[in-house]
Amino acid sequence: MKILILGVNGFIGYHLTKEILATTDWEVYGMDIDDNRINELENSRLHFVEGDIEINKEWIEYNIKKCDTVMPLVAIATPKMYVENPLRVFHLDFEANLDIIKKCAKYKKRIVFPSTSEVYGISPDAEFDEDKSPLCTGPINKERWIYSASKQLLDRVIWAYGNHENLPFTLFRPFNWIGPKLDSIEIAKEGSSRVVTQFIASLLFKKPIYLVDGGKQMRCFTYISDGIAALIKILKNENNICNKQIINIGNPKNNISIKDLAYLMRDIFSKHEKHKNDKEFSQIMEIDSKEFYGESYQDIYNRKPSIEKAKKMLNWEPTVDLEEALKLAIDAFINEYE
Ligand code: UGA
Repeated sequence: MKILILGVNGFIGYHLTKEILATTDWEVYGMDIDDNRINELENSRLHFVEGDIEINKEWIEYNIKKCDTVMPLVAIATPKMYVENPLRVFHLDFEANLDIIKKCAKYKKRIVFPSTSEVYGISPDAEFDEDKSPLCTGPINKERWIYSASKQLLDRVIWAYGNHENLPFTLFRPFNWIGPKLDSIEIAKEGSSRVVTQFIASLLFKKPIYLVDGGKQMRCFTYISDGIAALIKILKNENNICNKQIINIGNPKNNISIKDLAYLMRDIFSKHEKHKNDKEFSQIMEIDSKEFYGESYQDIYNRKPSIEKAKKMLNWEPTVDLEEALKLAIDAFINEYE
């Protein structure tokens, strides 16, 4: 199989490509604006081109025609950016990806598209079901929702192309995937990365860990290897079982409040071989979301996936518990940055 991965150097793109090269005979055609993660993966089946999906459109169209499956993974996925630069999120996450979706529809190429846990938003369901749960966002003045709304409309567009113009597709919804190389520590230094990298950066630089609005909000963290195992099965698509499906990929057992996460991460960090003799560790402090993110932020208090579909269709189940996932992520960051 020939697979086109746009955003091949991103967190998911990098880990997925690594697994594809190690366990399959597929050819990967990849584009990204950077190569800092992917440059360690030298392999004759990886055809990497440095480029921008908003600029290098001819290369993309040529490779969509040439490949069997397309994975457009380019997107801004950090909440701080949703509120600071919502139009950038719209242009990149929505407009640039819409163009790619239309080209997949034109050439009838299978698209495996990253939807997001954010589409469920503040849905009242205790566990989010792909085919039943309502998708609920907040008011327009809460700009955080531009990412969720953009992704939701793309989901609907792909669904419609699939139903009315025979576009082969699978949508997958990652639930807070974490692991080595999640976000860069440089971005975390500015306070703009996702929570796990943000807390690791605070621990590394002995800065305070901030609990937004007290940290009562819950997330189910999923270790990257579990996510990638599910994605490989989706890409293999035995008996076309994943066609026209939306699939949550998360670990409902790893459900934890952000406050408990902070204490657990500090505990793991303080027991790490390189830090067990440190005299001081980051303080854990509360902060108002208006101060941390700004007025147009709104949080999500529960986010738990139902993974019944993934279990049944993919014969898959997550295996890495939260403590182990955090230990692996923290250890990888310490070894990369110290
Ligand atoms: C994330 C992002 O939108 C995407 O990466 C993705 O689509 C989705 O969730 C996912 O990974 O499933 P969210 O979980 O809200 O959204 O993003 P984080 O930045 O990781 O924040 C998690 C929680 O921690 C939020 O409630 C936030 O307010 C809190 N937080 C974050 C803190 O308390 N302190 C911090 O320093 C950072």
